[in-house]
Amino acid sequence: MQIIHTVAALRKALEHQSQVGFVPTMGNLHDGHIRLVALAKQHASCVVVSIFVNPLQFGAHEDFSSYPRTLEADCQKLEAAGADIVFAPEVHEMYPDFDGRQLNQSMTISPPPLASAWCGATRPDHFSGVATVVMKLFNIVQPNIAVFGKKDYQQLLVIKEMVKQFNLSIEMVAAETMREDSGLAMSSRNGYLSPEQKAIAPQLHQVIRHIVHQVRQGDHHFSVLERCAAEQLTRQGWVVDYISICSADSLTPATEVDKHLVVLAAAKLGKTRLIDNIDFMR
Ligand code: PAJ
Repeated sequence: MQIIHTVAALRKALEHQSQVGFVPTMGNLHDGHIRLVALAKQHASCVVVSIFVNPLQFGAHEDFSSYPRTLEADCQKLEAAGADIVFAPEVHEMYPDFDGRQLNQSMTISPPPLASAWCGATRPDHFSGVATVVMKLFNIVQPNIAVFGKKDYQQLLVIKEMVKQFNLSIEMVAAETMREDSGLAMSSRNGYLSPEQKAIAPQLHQVIRHIVHQVRQGDHHFSVLERCAAEQLTRQGWVVDYISICSADSLTPATEVDKHLVVLAAAKLGKTRLIDNIDFMR
């Protein structure tokens, strides 16, 4: 496995590769990320994993500086998983005119309307930052396929829409969310939780599952289900951002005719913001 830090060296390494699979990450890898690598290997002869904590997608008061950076351990996991190339650029390699806080003079991608609700409402520049870095990474790696997790469901749809609207010739592969035995979705941010918070963190998944169950039983009172779930989480000490039953394709609030649905949720335990979702047919 090669570990590469510059765009020029990566381009050189990929010169003669015909079927490239790509898994973009911000590192601090867990089994959910590793599953994405395994999936990429099924579709490609050369798998590139990027590790880059992208300053553009963090708000001013978010955890950009404290985000865990564990390159050595990540590379060991990726080697064991059979990745071929790790691309781990410094900030200035990706954004030459970045001044530590913002981009000067650079172009950014403005994301599609489905990025403005849910996480986009609380994190205004987040999806622009995500779309911009993923577009740059796509142009650098030029993959045939790219794997993204459903864990970040809104992000997955934003990137799918970007691929469609910019006519990128990349096949998007979506991976199911990998969970702890408790049901808690694996996330690099779970490491911020205290033991007490970790014990109640699976509740987020539990309330989502309860809603899925109720809707599948024929309950159409979506706003009541959403409100009860939010109240339950609030009683247990969460600060709820949203919990919402949506159309899985447009992320607009679900109507009775929608068949493919997704329950999206984001809530904070202390300072840690967790997201989770389940998409399902009914
Ligand atoms: P990061 O949070 O590191 O996630 C990288 C990829 O792993 C994403 O596609 C995410 O959906 C997926 N992933 C995370 N947790 C998962 C889990 N429990 N099960 C399955 N997949 C999971 O998402 C980002 O980084 C960044 O926004 C990025 C796309 C790299 C752009 O900077």
